[in-house]
Amino acid sequence: MKRLLITGANGQLGSRIQGLWKTGYEVLCPDRQVLDLSRPEKIGPWIKANRPDLIFNCAAYTAVDKAEAEAELAHLINTNAPAELAKAAKALKIPLIHYSTDYVFDGTKPGPYLESDPTAPLNQYGRSKALGEEAVLAEGDLVYILRVSWLYSRSHPCFYQTMVRLLKERDELKVVNDQIGAPTAAGWAAFESGILAEKLLSWDLERSKTHRGIYHLSASGQISWYEFAQEILKSLNLVGQVDCNISPIPADQYPLPAKRPQNSILSNQKRALIFGRPQMDWRTQFYAEVGSQLRQT
Ligand SMILES: NC(=O)c1ccc[n+]([C@@H]2O[C@H](COP(=O)([O-])OP(=O)(O)OC[C@H]3O[C@@H](n4cnc5c(N)ncnc54)[C@H](OP(=O)(O)O)[C@@H]3O)[C@@H](O)[C@H]2O)c1
Repeated sequence: MKRLLITGANGQLGSRIQGLWKTGYEVLCPDRQVLDLSRPEKIGPWIKANRPDLIFNCAAYTAVDKAEAEAELAHLINTNAPAELAKAAKALKIPLIHYSTDYVFDGTKPGPYLESDPTAPLNQYGRSKALGEEAVLAEGDLVYILRVSWLYSRSHPCFYQTMVRLLKERDELKVVNDQIGAPTAAGWAAFESGILAEKLLSWDLERSKTHRGIYHLSASGQISWYEFAQEILKSLNLVGQVDCNISPIPADQYPLPAKRPQNSILSNQKRALIFGRPQMDWRTQFYAEVGSQLRQT
């Protein structure tokens, strides 16, 4: 039976990846008490002792604004730990699926970002993730970096959850309208990761090596946070009346410690070409992700 290791298995993405493997696999989900990624020196020995056949690294320091003040910790978890995971995976000749973000870019490109575009992060979180990508590629062998954008889920703290709460509590809400992206559902990203993992587990080493590298994994389409909030309001109104007026504002009227890119659109053409997997538009993903929860509200 194949043994899978999922770090960050209680997080937004990790919990959904964990949920994919009901039978036929042994799934190791060490929490931070068992495998603390802020102690990178512990990673190699733990993996050597537990010998997985494939690793999903869903653990990350994801508090974007807090990272401005905790840069060292963010870099330990997002740069040093992935480097150790990559080294350990190389020693066992097993694939590592690692996750990254649209925040490795500065958002000034007029069109969708390609995997080959240079990174230029605007904040500490983005910097730690960009360095993490470099470290994984340098230290690893069978490494696959999936860059996700605007991740959200029905179950974990995220923009979607915050909006649902605020839209119910308030009469007026101002939401940023000059940053665009493609909200990507955790359930869809997990499913696509599972398909990739099954391919990698079935391929021989040479084939797996040929396709190592960075891939974008995001929804198609593009909207602003303001438009996303409007869709969330629309979805809530399908199951009951919510009276809240949402107005668009520029990001500079909602100052945050960490700067965000204005353009977060990621081209998925490389992934489609190599793995034959289609993109799904953000709205279809959205109702697939939150539909069951809507019926319960
Ligand atoms: N959220 C987004 O909008 C977004 C967007 C683009 C890309 N991404 C990337 O997608 C991936 C998954 O993100 P996510 O939103 O699912 O993250 P998340 O919900 O914040 O979950 C992160 C997980 O990492 C674990 N973790 C944090 N520090 C740890 C440590 N020192 N040792 C062990 N585990 C630790 C957390 O453990 P606890 O459960 O104990 O807290 C949690 O399970 C990350 O690589 C992230 O950078 C996220």
